[in-house]
Amino acid sequence: MSLVLKSLEDGILTLTIHRPEALNALNRNVIDALSAALEAAQDNPEVRVIVLTGAGEKAFVAGADIKEFADFDQAQGEDLARRGQRDLFDRVEQSRKPVVAAVNGFALGGGLELALAAHVRVASTNARMGLPEVSLGVIPGYGGTQRLAQIVGKGKALEMVLTAGMIDAETALACGLVNQVVDQEILLETAQAMAGKIAKNAPTALAAALDSVLAGYGRDGFGVEIQRFGQCFTTDDFKEGTTAFLEKRKPQFPGS
Ligand code: CAA
Repeated sequence: MSLVLKSLEDGILTLTIHRPEALNALNRNVIDALSAALEAAQDNPEVRVIVLTGAGEKAFVAGADIKEFADFDQAQGEDLARRGQRDLFDRVEQSRKPVVAAVNGFALGGGLELALAAHVRVASTNARMGLPEVSLGVIPGYGGTQRLAQIVGKGKALEMVLTAGMIDAETALACGLVNQVVDQEILLETAQAMAGKIAKNAPTALAAALDSVLAGYGRDGFGVEIQRFGQCFTTDDFKEGTTAFLEKRKPQFPGS
């Protein structure tokens, strides 16, 4: 089955990341499939708004695929972040068609970063969000260090990045991380209704509005994130963090 399911109705394209056995973790193939679907949507006049969600009831996306990058070196780490940002996360944020994320469960690491790149976020009551990267000996590499602070402010962003903790949907609503919280049974229809409201407006004006809001945010930090993400791959902490995750045990960080 395809890694990204597509359905187009009344101008709303719903893209469902479909890798439930790995909680929809983003490996290279998922990133490529989602990137291609977004690119195709830009040129399809029938698509007015895009809704992005994850398959199943447990996870939106549980992050970048840890198994895929656990043995990467610095150059590969940097390349992972650079290509991911360029091919998917920037493409979501820079989409000319508004993107609504329907966060239906865990949105962790790259999963939260994907939701952050979307323009509006609706979450189900069971959603759990966080950036657990430092617990693996790495940092968010798909734009999370930049977009989280832009959305919730530096103080809350630093708390989330440094503690690696998860917050629930109500807390996410209170700090502005998500725009709306609803029961899981009505999540998709709520996100689609939000998309429908947006879709009634002028497509050219929507694209101009997105472009203008984004223009207010600098891009320098994304490059620093890519470089620092790559450097993490040279550390013993990273080796221990990823190995501990794969061995399903708590890490003992050597601090080097
Ligand atoms: N990458 C690869 N596989 C993952 C994954 C991930 N990010 N998250 C979950 N999976 C896999 C698990 O390994 C497991 O596979 P197996 O059945 O083959 O063992 C399967 O999905 C189900 O997961 P769990 O058994 O762990 O489910 P759980 O209910 O016990 O826990 C969870 C759920 C808390 C989300 C836990 O899976 C978890 O902590 N996942 C990792 C979250 C994480 O650290 N994400 C950040 C990744 S790093 C990143 O994203 C870097 C970046 O910015 C670029």
